[in-house]
Amino acid sequence: MSVTVIVGLQWGDEGKGKIVDFMSKSVDFVIRFHGGANAGHTVINKYGKFPLHLIPSGIFNSKTKCIITNGVVIDPKILINEIKMLERAGIKTKGRLFISKRAHIVTEDKKIEDKNLEEKRGKLKIGTTGMGIGPTYAAKALRTGIRVEDFIKTKEGKFLKPYVKETFLIIKDALLKNKKILAEGAHGVLLDIDWGTYPYVTSSNIVPGALHAAAGISPFDITNVIGIFKAYTTRVGEGPFPIEEKNEIGNIIREKGNEYGTTTGRPRRCGWLDLEALKFSCDLVKPTELTITKLDVLDGLKNIYIACGYKIGKKVVKFAELNTDLLYKAKPIYKLFRGWEKPIRGVKKISQLPYKARKYISFIENFLEVPIRFISIGPHRDEILIK
Ligand code: GDP
Ligand code: IMO
Ligand code: MG
Repeated sequence: MSVTVIVGLQWGDEGKGKIVDFMSKSVDFVIRFHGGANAGHTVINKYGKFPLHLIPSGIFNSKTKCIITNGVVIDPKILINEIKMLERAGIKTKGRLFISKRAHIVTEDKKIEDKNLEEKRGKLKIGTTGMGIGPTYAAKALRTGIRVEDFIKTKEGKFLKPYVKETFLIIKDALLKNKKILAEGAHGVLLDIDWGTYPYVTSSNIVPGALHAAAGISPFDITNVIGIFKAYTTRVGEGPFPIEEKNEIGNIIREKGNEYGTTTGRPRRCGWLDLEALKFSCDLVKPTELTITKLDVLDGLKNIYIACGYKIGKKVVKFAELNTDLLYKAKPIYKLFRGWEKPIRGVKKISQLPYKARKYISFIENFLEVPIRFISIGPHRDEILIK
């Protein structure tokens, strides 16, 4: 038996979808356990390019079963469109995709409420995806929400009915039979409702421990936690972002990395790798291993910087002690690295990476004190180096 959790260590969009798609061939189940259609996971493989919002990115491996558990808030229209998109591409979903009876439904009025709340906040808006996430989780907590088990009794719920199960029993059985489960986290821990840059966060818990409440998997059953981060940093929406480069460098990273939101198309805010923030995420999440993605995006840059700490004025400060107001004042302390000239896409082994790229990786690994196991060097499924 193994339960591996993939957790984004930054502000989301670390490439979780790509890594889950890659890993799905070696697991029996992939589950989505929190968030909703605010997540956008892009998967590129032999079947095409797919932006997934609700269906786990393991769906492309025909032997893998996929589960949407109770912690997810489901926009039925988006889910139905996603099922249809996959079926058109020849990916079967019946008997492979299961939806928890206990998950909550995002209704149209919750999306309107999300947008209205944002308008009311004016300059203090969060920059939500407008997918009704906050109001739906609020209704769940208020106990006025609509659960999938009730939704499928309605006319609109007919399409989804065959997919709906008590997914706890499927998971319990899988654990008993020693199956391999991969939990696909959404967002990133710096957007966690408790641990992120509140109030500029999403409305669910992103830390791996959330799996217990959100899927019925006990923390004792978690065997691995893969922390995933990009070779630089991005953020969508408002909120403090000390590492942000609101200049030519930010633009270069955005264009080279195609940093535009999968869900809303918004340009992502970009900056260098922020090890101060990442160290906090690692201390919190306790990953057993790391995955770095988008290393290729830094190809050809003469100078590359990494933030190894923060300062406010002359005082060195820690990410963990800063609330949102202080984070706005924090300035990164940078370390300069020389870039590598040669493009790295197409490289097949870590030993073939340019020396400077390997130096960049080992500096990060030593700083975070967690081994990096996968290095992603392109968006396609097989563009990955394994240590
Ligand atoms: P997620 O939300 O964590 O699944 O990430 P997104 O899919 O929102 O954003 C990651 C983007 O980077 C997607 O467009 C991926 O296709 C792409 N991507 C993933 N890994 C790599 C990589 O190693 N290199 C490059 N150039 N693109 C990548
Ligand atoms: P993936 O899974 C990046 C951000 C939004 C906004 C804040 C609150 O693709 O990494 P919400 O709609 O959740 O109420 O918005 O959270 N956000 C994400 N940013 N990637 C995501 O998911 C995100 N999910 C939420 O941009 O700032
Ligand atoms: Mg995304």
